Order: sequence, then C-alpha cells, then structure tokens
Amino acid sequence: MTGPNAHKPLGLAMTKDGYPPIVILTGAGISKESGLSTFRDADGIWATVRVEDVATPEAFARSPEKVHAFYNARRGKLVSREIKPNVAHQALARLEAEWPGEVLVVTQNIDDLHERAGAKSLIHMHGELLKVRCGACANVVEWRCDLGLDNACPNCGIVGKLRPHVVWFGEMPFEMERIYSRLECCRLFISIGTSGNVYPAASFVQQVRRRSGAHTAELNMEPSEGATLFAEAQYGLATVLVPAYVEKILNGRW
Ligand code: APR
Repeated sequence: MTGPNAHKPLGLAMTKDGYPPIVILTGAGISKESGLSTFRDADGIWATVRVEDVATPEAFARSPEKVHAFYNARRGKLVSREIKPNVAHQALARLEAEWPGEVLVVTQNIDDLHERAGAKSLIHMHGELLKVRCGACANVVEWRCDLGLDNACPNCGIVGKLRPHVVWFGEMPFEMERIYSRLECCRLFISIGTSGNVYPAASFVQQVRRRSGAHTAELNMEPSEGATLFAEAQYGLATVLVPAYVEKILNGRW
C-alpha cells in the first residue's frame, strides 16, 4: 500500500545533502520469528503478566524477587542456544554495511539480536537484558546469568542493589537527544514490528513527517496504532518484508 505522501525514488543517488540518512525503529515483532515473544499479541508477554507487577520502578521496590524472576526467565531464554538473529535482523545489518549514507537502528527491544546479526550503529532505547546496573554506584556491567538480591556489584561491592539495565514504564528511555537529532535529519524512516502503543517511540513518525521530503514506511504484521501516519505500509512477516525492503533500497528503488 502506498499512501498519498509517497516519495520520489531517491535510490543510491547522491542528493545535495549527500546520501539520504536512514533511521529504522524496531520492536518485538522483528524478534518474534527468532523465538522471542512480543508484548501485546494474543500470545504476548502482557497476556500472562501485568506490567504493574514486573516492569515499573514501583514493582521493583515492592517486590524485587518477582521482578528479578521475570527478567531472569527472559535472560535465560535469550542466552539459550535456540535463540538466534533471523533474516530480518541480518538484512538490516547488511543495509548498514552497504548503504553509503548513515543508517541508525533504534530498537525498543532489550534482546541482543541486532548486534549478533552485525549491527554497529544501534541504540537500545529501552535498555539491554544482558546488562545490569547498580543502584548504588550506577555502574553498568554485562550479565548473562540469573540476578538476585544476594548479588554484589562487581564495581562497588554493595550487595542487593543490582537491577536489570532496562527502561521500565515511568522511566526515561536512553539516548533520546541522539535519537531526536537523527530523526531530524533522516530522509527515510522505517518502523518494523512495533504496535505503536508505547511513547516516545510511537511518536517518531510524526517527528520525521515534519520534514519535507522524508519518506516513512511501516513494515508490520498488522496495522499499528499509528498506521495512518505512515506514507507507505506493508503487512506480513518481518522475515519476508524486511529483506525485500532492504533489497529495494540498495537497488535504488525506494
Ligand atoms: N513480523 C512482523 N511483525 C510482527 C511479527 C512478525 N513475525 N509478529 C508480531 N508482529 C507485530 C505485531 O502485529 C505487533 O504490532 O509486532 C508488533 C509487536 O507489538 P508489541 O508486542 O506491542 O511490541 P512493541 O511495539 O515492541 O512494544 C513496545 O512495549 O511493553 C513494552 O517495553 C516493551 O519495548 C516494548 C514496548
């Protein structure tokens, strides 16, 4: 489907500003076919557990064991052998490697599948499941095993203050200034596998639309909450749509 704001094809052609910069927003849908659950689908994470019980600072203050158990289960799954990047993650890494202009992936996902596929220019705006942060000294360290109240911070030695290095509801996502400055100058914005329910990510498309000449596309299983804001939309599996879209960009057909 192509909307009324459809772009003029730019392809690999150099514009007066150089090669068009690209920003890509990803959500849980891109990792679904790697075996990780989404949040708001019928079989998603929020169908079995309440946000308020496991993903807020208040939940952690009230019941840290429960919050640790929730993230320990997800971390254990992520490090298991069967979870691997899929062809959609790989296609985005290829785009970054082959596109002569800037490509930035901003992911809401806390998994490490983009980097395992080869992404270098990547922002984890909601944090990273394989890192923990100390509430006493603020040090961030890699962490691949279970986390509990008996763990000491490897930096300051204080016990019981480590928390998942993720952004909970009510907290500020990471690196917002850098994200907004890149949205400001991008010429192509692609949103992949996100339902558009969570802000500020859900408002990125509006930010890009303010800039004339920028193209916006949604690649998702179904229309997102903000579907009508995109100039172009394609619906289906990320593993089908994303490699084809990347091919199209690299062949100068967008
Ligand atoms: N390919 C493409 N899209 C898919 C696929 C797939 N294989 N499977 C599911 N989807 C789509 C769904 O249709 C849905 O629109 O991915 C979207 C996933 O939406 P959510 O579950 O809401 O995930 P996301 O948008 O990433 O959530 C944002 O909410 O709770 C938080 O912090 C969590 O980062 C997360 C944020």
